[in-house]
Amino acid sequence: MPMKGKQNHILKKVSVAIYKGDFTVIMGSSGSGKSTLLYSLSGMDCVNAGEILYKGEDLCKMKENTLAKLRQKDFGFVFQQMHLVSNLTLYENVVVSGYLNKDMAAKDVESYAKQLLDRMGLQDKYNRLPSQVSGGEQQRAAIARAVISKPALLFADEPTGALNRKNTNEVLDLLSQLHEDGQSILMVTHDMKAALRANRILYLEDGTIVGELTLPPYGSQDDKKRETQVNAWLSSLEW
Ligand SMILES: Nc1ncnc2c1ncn2[C@@H]1O[C@H](COP(=O)(O)OP(=O)(O)O)[C@@H](O)[C@H]1O
Ligand SMILES: [Mg+2]
Repeated sequence: MPMKGKQNHILKKVSVAIYKGDFTVIMGSSGSGKSTLLYSLSGMDCVNAGEILYKGEDLCKMKENTLAKLRQKDFGFVFQQMHLVSNLTLYENVVVSGYLNKDMAAKDVESYAKQLLDRMGLQDKYNRLPSQVSGGEQQRAAIARAVISKPALLFADEPTGALNRKNTNEVLDLLSQLHEDGQSILMVTHDMKAALRANRILYLEDGTIVGELTLPPYGSQDDKKRETQVNAWLSSLEW
């Protein structure tokens, strides 16, 4: 990332593939470059060396509006701060994002938005403003908004970072459900409990991937056993 002509090498020699159908998690200490990696992989930030390939095409070489369209259609984003539009209802936040997808008819967007919100336990809260619901509910609406266009990949940067344990679990259950239904997910997290949802964990240190762990699908294994395994692996990386 250039700063006043000076280059700051945040990511170094990272070579990574993200696979369809996976729930991939990126872990690492604060400042290790997790967000930078996520934003690079999604074409939000461009790398100054190397390439970011999506379906064989380099995101950083695409025309700006081609990339913008691709991100709108193929990628979904969830952040620690939900960034919902404060004067739109939860339902409106979701449909407005869906309308931007020219491949989907308005009435299909509307019925899918309702289906998603219902599934997220927000069936009684369509008409609430973000400020009128809990943080967990806001984040669930933000996830509905992120997946309304049926993205090939859902990117999430610390989506539970601002939530209490109860809301965190609700959001994680929802992400697990989406993954079970076939949604590919790439999530950055600090939280070991959140990482347990993944079937693949990458560990980043000082801008480099220093560890990788593959797990059976969440739910197919005893929770305690999984936690012990992930804990031992993280300890070996001096987490
Ligand atoms: N726009 C930027 N310009 C310069 N340095 C940055 C910028 N964004 C992040 N950094 C630095 O890059 C490193 C990695 O940041 P980040 O990817 O946000 O880490 P993480 O998400 O793992 O906490 C940090 O040292 C941070 O200070
Ligand atoms: Mg970060």
